Amino acid sequence: MSAGSAALGSGRRDNPSASAPPMLPPDPASPVGPDPNPTLPRSGSESYVLRPATIADLDEIWAIEVAVFGDDAWSRDLMREELAADHRVYLALVDDSGLVVGYGGLLAVGADADIQTIAVVPGARGSGNGRRVMEALLQAAGERGVREVFLEVRADNPIARGLYQSLDFEEIGVRPRYYQPGNVDAIVMRRTERGRA
Ligand SMILES: CC(C)(COP(=O)(O)OP(=O)(O)OC[C@H]1O[C@@H](n2cnc3c(N)ncnc32)[C@H](O)[C@@H]1OP(=O)(O)O)[C@@H](O)C(=O)NCCC(=O)NCCS
Repeated sequence: MSAGSAALGSGRRDNPSASAPPMLPPDPASPVGPDPNPTLPRSGSESYVLRPATIADLDEIWAIEVAVFGDDAWSRDLMREELAADHRVYLALVDDSGLVVGYGGLLAVGADADIQTIAVVPGARGSGNGRRVMEALLQAAGERGVREVFLEVRADNPIARGLYQSLDFEEIGVRPRYYQPGNVDAIVMRRTERGRA
């Protein structure tokens, strides 16, 4: 996922500090399919908590990043920078043993914000956790006076697109064949915060 504020600018799978066009999360070929990486946490927890993510979470977050996004995963250094950078809100979803099973990040500068990333381990998907992460990031955006929130998503990621649409993101553009290999389009989405309580 990724977002683009200025001129549909920086994006989730790019170096956030670079000016190159954004890249999205690789598609997990099957975003809700079987966990392709048995090293990922397999939480049996039914209660999850959201809390601010810190550098101390880097190992666990990066392990999820690599497993979920594969070749398009951010580098460990980039993830570290994101967790520490200004204007970011990173949240960790943890199970009742404290294990990180998901995360999400927001970049908010002025009136615009980008959803930088979101991922939930396969074993914790499908029960509202992704929505909780998104809602918390959007709440953080609202608290910072953000007027518009942008993101990008692969056209072949119906689960993420469904989540975003249900949160009132609307499609405002397409980057044709943005994801290579595979010629997969990137869908740019925007949510307007104005008027929300
Ligand atoms: C996208 C992702 C974060 C969603 O997390 P999740 O915990 O499974 O999502 P939730 O259970 O909160 O479901 C939220 C919405 O997603 C959609 N969704 C979830 N599972 C779905 C499924 N199996 N089929 C279709 N839609 C689904 C629905 O719109 C759902 O809303 P609803 O429950 O009101 O119908 C998760 O699938 C993920 O980490 N995917 C891999 C990484 C990724 O693709 N990130 C986004 C990059 S742009």
